[in-house]
Amino acid sequence: MPVKNRFSELLPEITAWRRDLHENPEILFETHRTSAIVAEKLGEFGCDEVVTGIGRTGVVGVIKGKTDTSGKVIGLRADMDALPIHEATGLEYASKTDGAMHACGHDGHTAMLLGAAKYLSETRNFDGTVVVIFQPAEEGGGGGREMCADGMMERWGIQEVYGMHNWPGKPVGSFAIRSGPFFAATDQFEVVIEGKGGHAAKPQEAIDPVVAGAHMVTALQSIVSRNADPVRQIVVSVTSFETSSKAFNVIPQRVHVKGTVRTLGNDMRDLGEERFKAVVSQTVAAFGAQAQINWIKGYPSMVNHDAQTEFAAEVATAVAGSCDDAPLVMGGEDFAYMLEERPGAYILVGNGDTASVHHPEYNFDDDAIPAGCSWWAEVVERRMPA
Ligand code: NI
Repeated sequence: MPVKNRFSELLPEITAWRRDLHENPEILFETHRTSAIVAEKLGEFGCDEVVTGIGRTGVVGVIKGKTDTSGKVIGLRADMDALPIHEATGLEYASKTDGAMHACGHDGHTAMLLGAAKYLSETRNFDGTVVVIFQPAEEGGGGGREMCADGMMERWGIQEVYGMHNWPGKPVGSFAIRSGPFFAATDQFEVVIEGKGGHAAKPQEAIDPVVAGAHMVTALQSIVSRNADPVRQIVVSVTSFETSSKAFNVIPQRVHVKGTVRTLGNDMRDLGEERFKAVVSQTVAAFGAQAQINWIKGYPSMVNHDAQTEFAAEVATAVAGSCDDAPLVMGGEDFAYMLEERPGAYILVGNGDTASVHHPEYNFDDDAIPAGCSWWAEVVERRMPA
């Protein structure tokens, strides 16, 4: 079964929503206009319940099927926020807000889930309840975590949850998924190495934090090459290294280091943190300096559940004719928190030949809308058949 005809009919309307969102991007939790539009449309579609202010600016809509003998409740989630990027697409509907841009296609995600909500409200051809979840602050703010913390899963009795992201470089409307760890945990670190400043010509009187820091940076790569199982995934990137001196002839008092550790799977995440702290403190100590470590926990690794992944792939195959194996992704995804609370799956939908996500020339391809909407609708109709 290819895409649902209804979504081909709705394509101009859904595209218009998408382009309006694209023109008016909002960052992190500041999705006030977007959330208001989403809530208004869900109301117009005839959703049984629309609630705003979940996870600060998140929106939840409830759509009951023709019957509810199954007692099943499925959550479908889209993200709404944009990025602090200056758009360079030159599109007629390019961002009107300087320094904000829908560079990750969350405008497309929101529009596709709205399209599915419209169809599901019209047809209600399922036995159970759908909860559509529109979250703010996917890009680093933890909007999904906040919605969970507000008790969303319990309040609506959500039993399973599904998510979708567009994927540039993959044919438009095709799908890819994988079971198990899929997106990385995105922890960050700050290290202050305290030495003893002095004259650059008298190192014997100083404790040089630059030399200690340089050895530390090099030693950190041994976590990947010597501590981690070589077939597992971990990335350690030092992205900032600043000394407290600007002079040619001064050994600085301290060095500030920043970076990120990306891991797939909770065991690798724990290993990364434990080894990071040991390597930093002991390497720096070997040079007589002291390290102060600030470990900042980011999103957990996003892990797809087996049964729901298999089902999601079946649905994708029904819509698009096939479903590919997705690559492992070392980027983060806030949907991880929802998958920690409930079984579910996250799928990629192809977005064709555009710049990569988070690039100033990226744009969501509206031709992916019928496939994306059909996948949402089919997840519901097949998981809770009428
Ligand atoms: Ni994204």
